Amino acid sequence: MSFIESVRARAVWDSRGCPTVEAEVRLDSGARGLAIAPAGASTGAGEARELRDGGERLKGLGVDRAVRAVNEVLGPCLQGMDITDQVGIDAAMCSADGTADKSRLGANAITAVSLACLWAASRQAGLPLWRHLSGTNEVRLPLPQIQIFGGGAHAKGSVDVQDFLAVPHGAKSFAQSLEWVAEVYHAAGKALSAQGKSLGVADEGGFWPQFGSNEGAIEALVKAIEAAGLRPGRDVSIALDLASTQYFAEGFYHWRSENRRFDKDQLLQLYTRWVQDYPIVSMEDGFAEDDIEGMQAMTHALGHKLQIIGDDFFVTNAPRIAERAGQGACNAVLIKPNQVGTVSETRQALETCRARGLGSIVSARSGETEDVSIVHLAVGWGVAQLKVGSFARSERMAKWNEGLRIEEDLGRALPYPHPHLFAWQHSS
Ligand code: PGA
Ligand code: ZN
Repeated sequence: MSFIESVRARAVWDSRGCPTVEAEVRLDSGARGLAIAPAGASTGAGEARELRDGGERLKGLGVDRAVRAVNEVLGPCLQGMDITDQVGIDAAMCSADGTADKSRLGANAITAVSLACLWAASRQAGLPLWRHLSGTNEVRLPLPQIQIFGGGAHAKGSVDVQDFLAVPHGAKSFAQSLEWVAEVYHAAGKALSAQGKSLGVADEGGFWPQFGSNEGAIEALVKAIEAAGLRPGRDVSIALDLASTQYFAEGFYHWRSENRRFDKDQLLQLYTRWVQDYPIVSMEDGFAEDDIEGMQAMTHALGHKLQIIGDDFFVTNAPRIAERAGQGACNAVLIKPNQVGTVSETRQALETCRARGLGSIVSARSGETEDVSIVHLAVGWGVAQLKVGSFARSERMAKWNEGLRIEEDLGRALPYPHPHLFAWQHSS
């Protein structure tokens, strides 16, 4: 057995140039674990709360208080604990915090420490993290959802839909899926430049286009797949993250870029037409975080042929997943560790999905770093899909590249992608 000797934190910088928390856990054996908390921009109201300093400095985003929470409270609290007891470690941090939303010590502090403990345990075991998590279970690489165009809160002034993603489900390996998406990404960039519509890249590395409409971005994505020599719907399909909480107000969905407003029925009609007209396999947060009725209607109408993901709608919270999915809302769940704040609660969210036949997708945040923990969680826990943003910028590429290393380590590859990729495929 190996025990926690010390837990320290430091402020480091994320992909938006904002401070975030890195935790470093040392064991009595000398083994060490390091992890960095990510940060969202289009965050759900139900997420565990980050602790930020407030005030003038760094637009209030400083993390000195969160760093102190680790050094002065969480570290002493965890000292001497068995590193293999992740559930006990996470529970001790939750009770030290004492709030329902982790706001006292901060979900950023707690997430970083929880993940750093997991890394330390895998180092102690002498195993890669994914293998430490999988045990003897056979695992394979997840299918990526990769952003080609970014909008919404990640590209202010662009289109309203947040992510237009490529899903290379026809690929026969993780490596091939990345190569295909690289071709699509570069084809999309070339077309935008030729049309004089490129404005650089959005927060997650997708192109920040000047499209006249949201549907225009979908059309451009279909063309980019074709230009890459791939078959839309056969080799590569489309996923959308509507992140609709961002433009929901007083019962209506407002698209600023098109000066349009929809009620629930109109929005569902539009989605239904899009699903008919384009090779869309997955839609996330199509209705707002508390629009249960909207999500139920969408799942009822389209859930037999489409992955309907809740992100802000579920916030990786197991009881909320059980309750809302039990009411017929969504057939898949986005899994983001920092939405709930600990590894064990993230695992509980995943178990809840499995018990209910819901699909799951491990996901990064829009503010990321070189931390690759989520790739190991996805592989080690046998999650079929992974979403980490686009195919540019090293905080994204670090994750894709880590997946390539793991695929190589796995050696004998299992069939790819997972045979039961989308939850709606098992029930039909
Ligand atoms: P966020 O966006 O990290 O800004 O919340 C990611 C997503 O909505 O999936
Ligand atoms: Zn989302």
